[in-house]
Amino acid sequence: MLSILLSRARSYEDEHLSAVSPLDLPCFHVTGGVGWINDPNGFSLYRGEYHLFFQYNPYSTHWDTMHWGHVKTRDFIRWERLPCALAPDKSYDKDGCFSGSAVELRDGRHLLMYTGVRKTDDGHEFQTQCIAFGDGINYEKYDGNPVIDSELLPAGGSEVHFRDPKIWVDGDRFHAVAGNLTSDGSGAVLMFESDDALSWRFIGEVAASENRFGRMWECPDLFRLDGKDVLIVSPQEVYTRDPEFIDGNTTLCLIGELDENNRLIRETEHTIDCGLDFYAPQTVLTADGRRVMIAWMQYWNSVEIRPREDLSFYGQMTLPRELHVRDGRLIQSPVRELDDYRGDRTAFEGIPVSERTQLLGIGGRCLDLTVKIRPAKEEIFDSFSVHAAQGGEYTTEICYSPSTNTILVDRTRSGWPENVLNRREFAVRDRGGEITLRLILDRYSLEIFVNGGEQAASFVIFSPASADGISFEARGEAVIDVEQYSLDIQ
Ligand code: FRU
Repeated sequence: MLSILLSRARSYEDEHLSAVSPLDLPCFHVTGGVGWINDPNGFSLYRGEYHLFFQYNPYSTHWDTMHWGHVKTRDFIRWERLPCALAPDKSYDKDGCFSGSAVELRDGRHLLMYTGVRKTDDGHEFQTQCIAFGDGINYEKYDGNPVIDSELLPAGGSEVHFRDPKIWVDGDRFHAVAGNLTSDGSGAVLMFESDDALSWRFIGEVAASENRFGRMWECPDLFRLDGKDVLIVSPQEVYTRDPEFIDGNTTLCLIGELDENNRLIRETEHTIDCGLDFYAPQTVLTADGRRVMIAWMQYWNSVEIRPREDLSFYGQMTLPRELHVRDGRLIQSPVRELDDYRGDRTAFEGIPVSERTQLLGIGGRCLDLTVKIRPAKEEIFDSFSVHAAQGGEYTTEICYSPSTNTILVDRTRSGWPENVLNRREFAVRDRGGEITLRLILDRYSLEIFVNGGEQAASFVIFSPASADGISFEARGEAVIDVEQYSLDIQ
């Protein structure tokens, strides 16, 4: 039986989604279609398909009491919309079904694990971990919810900030990590274990901020990759003065080895995405053994600024990315399935660039463009820029400076007002003026992958569709190879 709140959400979707033109949505990035979305949830393989849920308010393009929206895919590029999966319809989650994850059970059921938020009349808030079982469309919340509450917290752990369980199956056991605020006022990731996903025990603190990386740590994910243990987490209120991290809500990747107490012995620490719009990433292990990550492509600190009030949706996901660990860093590249959607190819080799240069056939707003840049002579150029989504007053500039080994992305003229953070600079590896940039453009976004994924950077842009030019420019002399594929996806 569907609850009144879930039926209401599904009827609302039925009524309003049909009125949305696909031409107003991104071509291949997930949105709610209607309403607001934030974090990816429940990214999981279930009966041979990848399911993705998300934090969702179907009724308005602003955050409110959270539901779980739902889509699925076979290839991470084309997504099928499914009816709203969870509504805040129980006493223990009446103030929101917050973020969580999912696994396929041996008995064929799909298990969702999420945070139920409950506020009491006297203003107290409780966050507890809950589960629901389903068949890929309809989900029944477990009668014994919550399955993890504050009783399992280590001393000093906050019952107000205890959320975002990521569950996985380990042989005969279930494990989960969740974010928690500790007694020093900063975040930690806690690990739990269970034999049946119903009854849980606390088995250790994986890592803690100790006030170095922000306050509350949200949306953790822990996995083994390329012989290392990798913890990804999304800290709030980070003000490090370290340009590696964006202020406010940021992302952090810790790589190392778990010890016998499930504590991560850290070897390296770095940000996950060098752009302006990337938060709450979550991963799935694919059927063929790849670790694939998706994130909310938005920045909490700018969500109330709406350059396009006319759109039916707010919030979108990144393109799913394949992950690897190399030299202590997370390497990210667009899922290989994107290649199957490559359309017309336009390519140039050995093009000298100094002044503003346009190349015949290079341009568009849904495309996959790789530019290999190198110095034209021994003397290295001062800077090299790609201007994307260009036309009239619009441009999004990606400027590479070999002398400082940095890339500066400037989206000041990309449809955003001037009072938001529009520029981000990040470090790249010194390769004597050689660099490869892969740009994935969709109607409302630009994702940049540097040198085969050593850095990734995500940006939401609101330049109109008519701003579809691309040009290149160097201060000094550079030579480029360019390969562009149109992405014909709708
Ligand atoms: C992260 C987050 C999560 C929470 C959810 C609520 O963006 O704050 O910690 O579960 O969003 O929508």
